[in-house]
Amino acid sequence: MFVVAGVSGNTGSVVAETLLAQRKAVRVVVRDAAKGEAWKARGAEVAVASLDDADALGRAFAGAEGVYVLLPPFGFADEDPASSRPALIAGITGALRSGRPAHVVLLSSIGAQHPAGTGPIAALHTLEREIAATGVPATFLRAAYFMENWGASLGGAIEGGALYNALESGRKFPQVATRDIGATAAALLVEPVGSGTRVVDLSGPADYSLDDVAATLSGIVGKTIPAVQVPIDGLKGALRGMGASAAVADLYGEMTDGINRGHVAFEPGTTRVRGATSLETVLRSLLQR
Ligand SMILES: NC(=O)c1ccc[n+]([C@@H]2O[C@H](COP(=O)([O-])OP(=O)(O)OC[C@H]3O[C@@H](n4cnc5c(N)ncnc54)[C@H](OP(=O)(O)O)[C@@H]3O)[C@@H](O)[C@H]2O)c1
Repeated sequence: MFVVAGVSGNTGSVVAETLLAQRKAVRVVVRDAAKGEAWKARGAEVAVASLDDADALGRAFAGAEGVYVLLPPFGFADEDPASSRPALIAGITGALRSGRPAHVVLLSSIGAQHPAGTGPIAALHTLEREIAATGVPATFLRAAYFMENWGASLGGAIEGGALYNALESGRKFPQVATRDIGATAAALLVEPVGSGTRVVDLSGPADYSLDDVAATLSGIVGKTIPAVQVPIDGLKGALRGMGASAAVADLYGEMTDGINRGHVAFEPGTTRVRGATSLETVLRSLLQR
C-alpha cells in the first residue's frame, strides 16, 4: 500500500495516477472527503486527515510500504506565513513515528541543505531534519524551481510586451515540470530502500535563464518578448500589488536573491536526476489553460 498526500495538488495527483496505472494499492490523504470521491472511483482508498493532525495522519500512514508527503504552501496573503509551519512539521513527523511506514518520500527543494537565506525553502530544511530524526527511511526529493511558476507571469508578459522578473536575466538555473516530479516520486516510492536518508535532486532536461524563458515564450507566441531584470525591491512591490502580504513578498524576495547568488542551488555531491519535460512543453500547456 502506498499513501499519497497532497493528491489534489500539482505533484501528488501525478504520484497517485502513476501508481494506480501500475495497479499498486493506493491510499490518498485528503482533508476534505469530497476531494477523495474521484480517487475512490479510480480504485484508491481514501483517508481524511489534515497534515497537522498527527493522530489521523498516523492512522493513514500505518502499514504503508511508502508514503509521499509535502509541506503545503502558505497563503499568498498570509500575514504570518511562518506560523503554520511548526504544526504541519509536527503533524507529519508525529504521524511517521506512530504509523511507521517502511519509507517516506518528501517533496523538498533545491537549497534545502541551507537553514536560512532561502525564503520559503528554509521550512523544508527543518522538515528534512525532523523527518531524519524519526528513523523512518526517507528520500528527500529536492526539486528545482517549478516551470509552472511562470504561469503567473505569461499573460502580463504577452500583454505588456516584456517579461519582468528579479531573477538575473542571463543566469541559467535548474527548473523542472511538476509532471516529472510526480513521476520521479512514484518511481522512488516503489524502489527498494535501505535505512537512513538519501537526497535526490531533480531538474528538467536543461537549465534555463530568464532570457531563455522570454525567448521560448517569444517563439511560441510569434513576437519578441524581451526579459527585463528588475531589482528585488521591484519584485516585492509587484507581489504586494498582486495581493501578497509583506512577509510573503519578503520570503519570495529572499529566495530570488538566493537563486541569483547561487545560494539556492543543488548541494554538491548529491544524486541528480533529470526529467524529460522541456520548458517549451510546459509554457505551451500553461498558455492553453
Ligand atoms: N514552486 C516551486 O518552485 C517549488 C520548488 C521546489 C519545491 N516546492 C515545494 O512544493 C510543494 C508544493 O507542491 P505541489 O505544487 O504539488 O502542491 P500544491 O499543488 O500547492 O498542492 C498542495 C496540496 O496540499 C494539500 N494540503 C494543503 N494543506 C493541507 C493540510 N493542512 N492537510 C492536508 N493536505 C493539505 C492541498 O489539498 P487541498 O485541496 O485540501 O487544499 C493540495 O493537495 C511545497 O512544499 C513547495 O515548497 C516548490
